[in-house]
Amino acid sequence: MDSFGRLLPRLVTAVPGPASRALGRRLRAVESRNVTFLSEAFPVFWESARGANVRDADGNVFLDLTSAFGVSLLGHSPTDVVAAFDRQARELLHGMGDVHPPIAKVRLLEALAEIVPFDDARSVLATSGSEAVEIALKTARLASGRPGILALEGGYHGLTVGALSVTSRAAFRRPVLERLFDGVTHLPFPRGDAGGRARAEAIAALDRALDDPPTSGPIGTVVLEPVQARAGVRPVPRWWADALMERVERHGLILVADEIYTGLGRCGAVLASHLVGLRPHIVCLGKVLGGGVPISACVAPSPIMDAWPESDGEALHTSTFLGHPASCAAAEAALARVRAGLPDEARALGEQLLTGLRRNLRALVDEGLVEVRGLGLLVGIEIRDPGRGPRAAAGVEAAQELLTRGVITLPAGASGAVVELSPPVGLSPDQVEHAVRAVAEVVAAVARRPP
Ligand SMILES: Cc1ncc(COP(=O)(O)O)c(C=O)c1O
Repeated sequence: MDSFGRLLPRLVTAVPGPASRALGRRLRAVESRNVTFLSEAFPVFWESARGANVRDADGNVFLDLTSAFGVSLLGHSPTDVVAAFDRQARELLHGMGDVHPPIAKVRLLEALAEIVPFDDARSVLATSGSEAVEIALKTARLASGRPGILALEGGYHGLTVGALSVTSRAAFRRPVLERLFDGVTHLPFPRGDAGGRARAEAIAALDRALDDPPTSGPIGTVVLEPVQARAGVRPVPRWWADALMERVERHGLILVADEIYTGLGRCGAVLASHLVGLRPHIVCLGKVLGGGVPISACVAPSPIMDAWPESDGEALHTSTFLGHPASCAAAEAALARVRAGLPDEARALGEQLLTGLRRNLRALVDEGLVEVRGLGLLVGIEIRDPGRGPRAAAGVEAAQELLTRGVITLPAGASGAVVELSPPVGLSPDQVEHAVRAVAEVVAAVARRPP
């Protein structure tokens, strides 16, 4: 008999059930209203999770096709990560990361240096993805000697002020617009299906930004996601990556790959950058790195990282929880799984999911109602109005319907037209079949509904 982690959805109440709705009322009374969207139909409150299953406060079992924001690629609560965390927590839960460092920090940094494709890698550890982006932007500023930054429209790099300055969505930026860094140029996202003229225009826009920089100074940093995740699973097209790399070399730019979402196996390789033709100087890692524990890293080869001065006792970038020993031990266990073939597992399962979805949605794809795209275990299904583009909020509608069937997904894309899947490895054959069938049925129903 299958155990929790490998179950199909089992709903024992309507979704959300009475316990989730009661928790929603309690939450409304104590959390800033900006944080959690609450309605009669949303959300469900999680009580426990293993593998690809989540159990909510009402006892409903869900199939989680999100790995909770892409973090739990190893599945929820992987036993090796939990055991490593537990062992370390009993010995030394918290330490003094940049003063009297825990042994666990050294071990994790050695494991990271071994796994990233840089000679002589150096890292700065942090707690959240946004913080890793902050460190990368500071490092690139120092290493390039130039203040300007190039980023892409649709890019999501986090919401702390530096990261938000390169994140492009207007709604996130508007409340603090005048506080953000100046000197950031957002280029339109280069479409993979762009024809010859659109390609030439995209490359000309890149050249204009480099040759005619903002008044605040010349561009020294390029920051991007190799596959834009929250923007609806959009890989950087190869032709644009080639053009960019040529200019990165010619202008002596520092290329920062934000691989918080895509890195460490999610897309079928240690770094997704290499799959799309990018050769970054600095890489930001998070999410999968901790196996479910909050930890992140900014990694670069020593000639780049050595743009920072040697510490004379006052670290110029650090934080209280840098090198947190229990988190480092968890991350070391997660990296052991990356070394043991996690990217290959993700690639194989991703191909299975993409093939199944394309087969079940073939008629809608042919009619231009749906586009299925993905790399490894990062998959986006965009619902479209033929001739007019993505159908706003259709992904939100589909994700909501899937939730009521016990399948957790996330909407994505600027207008919410995409259903995003970032499931864990280790789905059972039944779970794969169920996921493909449920997602295809709901997407087809929404796509065929008159807008
Ligand atoms: C590509 C990318 N960069 C940065 C971040 C920010 O990470 P965090 O939310 O841990 O600060 C995210 C979060 O989703 C992300 O997807």
